[in-house]
Amino acid sequence: MRVQRICCIGAGYVGGPTMAVIADRCPDVQVTVVDINQTRIDAWNNADLAQLPVYEPGLDAVVGRARGRNLTFSTAVSEAIASADMVFISVNTPTKTKGLGAGQASDLRWVEACAREVALAATGHTIVVEKSTLPVRTAEAIKTILEAAHDGSEMRSFSVLSNPEFLAEGTAIRDLETPDRVLIGGEDQSSIDALAEVYSHWVPANQILRTNLWSSELSKLTANAFLAQRISSINSVAALCEATGADVREVARAIGTDSRIGPKFLQSGPGFGGSCFQKDILNLVYLCRYFGLPEVADYWESVVTLNTWQQHRISRLVVQKLFGTVTGKRLAILGFAFKADTNDTREAPAIRIAGDLLEEGAQLAIHDPKVMVSQIARDLKLESSGTSEGLSGIGSWGQATSVEEAVNGADAVLILTEWRDYQSLNWKSLAARMRRPAWVFDARAVANPIQVKEAGLMLWRVGDGAQ
Ligand code: NAD
Ligand code: UGA
Repeated sequence: MRVQRICCIGAGYVGGPTMAVIADRCPDVQVTVVDINQTRIDAWNNADLAQLPVYEPGLDAVVGRARGRNLTFSTAVSEAIASADMVFISVNTPTKTKGLGAGQASDLRWVEACAREVALAATGHTIVVEKSTLPVRTAEAIKTILEAAHDGSEMRSFSVLSNPEFLAEGTAIRDLETPDRVLIGGEDQSSIDALAEVYSHWVPANQILRTNLWSSELSKLTANAFLAQRISSINSVAALCEATGADVREVARAIGTDSRIGPKFLQSGPGFGGSCFQKDILNLVYLCRYFGLPEVADYWESVVTLNTWQQHRISRLVVQKLFGTVTGKRLAILGFAFKADTNDTREAPAIRIAGDLLEEGAQLAIHDPKVMVSQIARDLKLESSGTSEGLSGIGSWGQATSVEEAVNGADAVLILTEWRDYQSLNWKSLAARMRRPAWVFDARAVANPIQVKEAGLMLWRVGDGAQ
């Protein structure tokens, strides 16, 4: 079977870029991305490619090539399902906030809604592909829903595959175009072959891994848990470096040259953010407890505990260094996105750190090259008090349109996202705008420490025990 029409339910950070790359690489396949969110679909259809709802380097070019040719964005969900021979489910799977498993288990209501939509609208043979990150054995529930819809009177059939996505935000297009691997889990060989054929347009055959359904589902959670575990490990070592005079970057280099450890994901920082690491580990923790493995659950839970601690550690440190109080003090926050090259703020370390500092009564002048003021207000659950120029009062914040504006009159600068712009700041001229004594808290270790010190600023760099 050769796939001719793909429908993807969910036009988010995964569905949009992933389908754009599939459409770009497979011009003979019609790809329709559907979503119930009209505003999001309108943004994907915006003639101005700078206004797409997801900011990713290179995404505009890919969408620009494929949209209108074989890539469509629409809210007509059932129509798109009806005409598709392959349906990807790429909807959100956040942590449950209420009820059984609240705070750990994944909320699968949107996935279930998709399965029911497919059950109602599909025609002919439909391959349903789990693209969302899901608890192991979710495919069983999806199959049950699809099979229940099979009334025997129509020529309809389904098969379910797991094809988790490993892209990282900020490098999504590169990750999609040259993936380390594509993982396909399933039972039905011809469906697996059909999906593998789509990827074979640009992914070498030996990088398309085939497993059973449950291994595929579990591999995604495990991959994120391993990645996040490295960050908590290096952040724990960073704290020890600060206490002992070691430097975490030197330690990371020393251990990373061991080919068994490898150099990637050893960058100490303000703790991991992003929509997935925490939610996926908590999901793993929930599954371990569910399957009677409390020691395994505790092991993985500690990765999240350490991460939360690291975020609070940074805000505590700022308060301590600023003579034990930040009440009424102006602090410049550089970077609100959870990492560079994305406008995504989900679980960004900046949310917890800024939240702590607001609670302490600080005035925050927040700068980020891509995050909108309305998003920051939603994340902090606090309206901005206007521009950062007129900040007053206790526990308030405003958006700064430039780094210079952010640091005007500030007692400290906190670098929380490693945006390229922050790597080459003119510390001498910034220092002249600050109130003395002035601090730089570099949670990403991106500023040049010599220049910061030469500008007469005091510096705290994550994991630097020599300071
Ligand atoms: P997202 O919130 O950006 O997008 C999900 C979209 O699905 C939303 O636009 C929502 O309106 C839509 N949706 C929900 N229910 C729907 C329904 N019934 N019909 C139509 N549309 C519906 O989420 P995301 O970041 O794209 O993540 C999607 C999945 O991919 C999650 O399971 C996530 O864990 C996983 N994932 C995310 C990333 C990432 O970098 N963000 C990477 C790999 C995997
Ligand atoms: C992560 C994984 O890298 C992807 O493979 C996965 O598909 C995705 O989660 C997902 O399932 O959502 P993402 O969260 O987009 O991707 O970005 P990462 O580059 O992994 O960064 C996550 C967080 O860890 C960021 O806050 C980043 O700043 C931090 N990080 C990363 C560090 O603090 N140190 C590092 O060395 C690397």
